[in-house]
Amino acid sequence: MSKIATLEIGGKKYEFPIIEGTEKELGIDIKTLRGATDSVITIDPGYKNTGACESAITYLDGEKGILRYRGYSIEELAEKADFLEVAYLLIFGDLPKLEELAKFHADIKEQSVVDDDVKKILDAFPKTAHPMGVLSCLTSALTAFNPSTVDVESEEEMYKSTVKILGKFPVLVAWTMRKQKGLPLNYGDTSLGYVENIMKMMYEKPNEQYEQNNILLNALDKLLILHADHEQNCSTSTVRMVGSSHAGLYASLSAGISALWGPLHGGANQAVLEMLEAIKEDGGDTEKFMAKAKDKSDSFRLMGFGHRVYKNFDPRAKIIKVAADEVLADLGIEDPVLDIAKGLSEEALRDAYFVDRKLYPNVDFYSGIIYRAMGIPVEMFTVMFALGRLPGWIAQWKEMRMRKEPIGRPRQIYIGENNRPFIDIEKR
Ligand code: ACO
Repeated sequence: MSKIATLEIGGKKYEFPIIEGTEKELGIDIKTLRGATDSVITIDPGYKNTGACESAITYLDGEKGILRYRGYSIEELAEKADFLEVAYLLIFGDLPKLEELAKFHADIKEQSVVDDDVKKILDAFPKTAHPMGVLSCLTSALTAFNPSTVDVESEEEMYKSTVKILGKFPVLVAWTMRKQKGLPLNYGDTSLGYVENIMKMMYEKPNEQYEQNNILLNALDKLLILHADHEQNCSTSTVRMVGSSHAGLYASLSAGISALWGPLHGGANQAVLEMLEAIKEDGGDTEKFMAKAKDKSDSFRLMGFGHRVYKNFDPRAKIIKVAADEVLADLGIEDPVLDIAKGLSEEALRDAYFVDRKLYPNVDFYSGIIYRAMGIPVEMFTVMFALGRLPGWIAQWKEMRMRKEPIGRPRQIYIGENNRPFIDIEKR
């Protein structure tokens, strides 16, 4: 196939190179379009056809249901690696050797104390504050407590800021949940594994010894791995975009957390549970809600179904469904809300509307179910997503800076008023 794309505008032809990725994906490189033409640009709201960068981190094929981090399949990583190994892989490009992983973990532990004054900021929030707003604010506040900018040219400095945020972020996550539950702030136990310690920090009661449950630990570890990166999604693009102005890592991450919050993105796992609760309150008639979802005059959508890029199945959903089944069986939970979830997914998988549009349960459908079974408050679900996505955001931020990408600044086609004279206020 020719590696040149030809575009004709007003009878004049322009040629653009076609670039090819390592998985044979093709992209028309239009960097010279505006300069070569009379300021013509492309328009693609939602960026469904627009690549913002070249990246060596994550490969996904939405049609075939493939997801790989640095060339390793998500299925293999979820089965054989733990979250910290995956974080290392994403950020540094290769799986760590035993001694590299041990050092990485030790360095993270070393950095896992948060300035005590951060507690004062947390204290000022009402208990009712949404945890995503609190987490975004606390992450941004880390800038104030760690003001030096990162020299991205220096591997040592990048490494230091990476272990710093990987050490402090779980503490902020746990404290956000503890604040909401009215529990005293704690620090867990750094002799534990990374995710093990997160569990302890989140759940430990002041008057009880915390007992780990390995099925829950395994489910959380898998969930964090599955959420660790997903190439140029809304929050990751936000992190790269904010970072492209050379704003610091924490400020960029804080913006990514805000982007993740929305119900069409990471907020979907909360929206799933709220929808299931609403169906239960309404009498549990799933068919009625299926009909609403299909009715074009009704804005209701079946939350946790459909995906922008996975149009056949979400490979993460397949893996996590197994973990969800294990968690529910282990905990022996009987919960009408979870029964509704089961019924809804079975009906949708049979229904022509959903089948024709390739709308399958996505990872957030099952993650919401697991988090509910684990006793995590609904508003915390998206915070858990952020915890998993952190290594991906760091890796993408680092890649963007090291590739010296230009500041992100899209164009537009103006559709407002043409030039008009100013009218004095008395005459309007
Ligand atoms: N319920 C009912 N109908 C749906 C749903 C849904 N959940 N999702 C898509 N559709 C329909 C649309 O109405 C549209 O129908 P039409 O062709 O008759 O007009 C068709 O399916 C295509 O939908 P789009 O909105 O064009 O698909 P898009 O790729 O833009 O959206 C999205 C993907 C935002 C995820 C959408 O499926 C959705 O809103 N799902 C519910 C929210 C959700 O679960 N989000 C989590 C995403 S996963 C994540 O962020 C990790």
